[in-house]
Amino acid sequence: MADSDGGVGKRPRGAQVEDRKVDWRRWKQERKAETKKWKEIKLLKKLEKQRMREQAEQEAQTQEEQKEERGRPHTLSVALPGSILNNAQSPALRSYLAGQIARACAIFCVDEIVVFDEHGEDVKSVEGDFEGIGKKGKACVQLARILQYLECPQYLRKSFFPKHEDLQFAGLLNPLDSPHHMRMDEDSEYREGVVLDRPTKPGRGSFVNCGMRKEVQIDKQLNPGLRVTVRLKEPQNPEAKVRKGTVVSSQHPRAVSGLYWGYSVRLASCLSAVFSECPFKEGYDLSIGTSERGSSVDQVTLPSFRHALVVFGGLEGLEAGVDVDPNLEVTDPSVLFDFYLNTCPSQGSRTIRTEEALLISLSALRPHIEEAVKTPKDS
Ligand SMILES: C[S@@+](CC[C@H](N)C(=O)[O-])C[C@H]1O[C@@H](n2cnc3c(N)ncnc32)[C@H](O)[C@@H]1O
Repeated sequence: MADSDGGVGKRPRGAQVEDRKVDWRRWKQERKAETKKWKEIKLLKKLEKQRMREQAEQEAQTQEEQKEERGRPHTLSVALPGSILNNAQSPALRSYLAGQIARACAIFCVDEIVVFDEHGEDVKSVEGDFEGIGKKGKACVQLARILQYLECPQYLRKSFFPKHEDLQFAGLLNPLDSPHHMRMDEDSEYREGVVLDRPTKPGRGSFVNCGMRKEVQIDKQLNPGLRVTVRLKEPQNPEAKVRKGTVVSSQHPRAVSGLYWGYSVRLASCLSAVFSECPFKEGYDLSIGTSERGSSVDQVTLPSFRHALVVFGGLEGLEAGVDVDPNLEVTDPSVLFDFYLNTCPSQGSRTIRTEEALLISLSALRPHIEEAVKTPKDS
């Protein structure tokens, strides 16, 4: 169809420019709307990602809290004089006595054993004659050595205990059979191991013998010969030549997973050093002395605690340790402790030996300790 200018379908030039402007404006508006929409989608995606991240963090925190709930924050320490070995009639019986102490402590989940010298060699003066470490000193070291030997998982003993006369009969002693003494194919979240002297690729961790068929590659490079606690990675790849794991503190299995993970052994040169060299920075917040002259354990209510210490005497009781300790100005041992307890009221023998008192006392104290730790102490 012809228009008034004779042109076919032609529009005036001004109108065409106007149309183009309208198209351009519309195009710009559409782009703007699209960009806005796109930005909104991007923001929504970002918010969704953030929400997912927060949810994952929350879940991880809940898992960690649940693990902490499984954990045991409190510890139990026991102190006793090494001189008790001197009451044994033969070298074999000396070892057996040490074995009894180790087993009693493992049975009652003792975390630390302190062997103190009740004859107090920690004299601050240099006056007088030095008589050498002698038999008494040796009893402390021997007791500590046998306790350490029995605590060490069997598969690691060769690495940490060279032949020594103190351990002559230790191989015959009853094993502790505690949770960290794993059989080869036993499944466990944690294992004790020794770092091997094997080259590793740069950026990779050391190899550790954890007493399993496969070695474990840990997350760090550590010095060969070091004893480590390893948390094994799950799920494991059955095809892999090695297992993967991370090194954790030896406290981790107890504090996080509530497992009994053996005891540490500490030597103290006198009774006062049992307290003053406490490895916990807060110190022991509950101390119990044991004696037939103490008050009955039956009526006691123990307060909530973080680190408890139960102290035993030797042949002459705790008085012997107090008398010779140059750092103590008291004569009555009961004043050193929060509680001074008779754990076997109405005993039928004139004396209860230290190794017997250990089993009796830990057994009598157990329900009181359980009650006390029901309300955890903040610190
Ligand atoms: C052979 S006893 C010491 C006896 C010593 N005649 C005395 O008077 O204490 C060795 C240790 O076993 C513990 N013991 C013995 N009888 C006890 C009892 N009835 N209650 C709590 N602990 C006891 C104490 O730690 C004591 O120091």
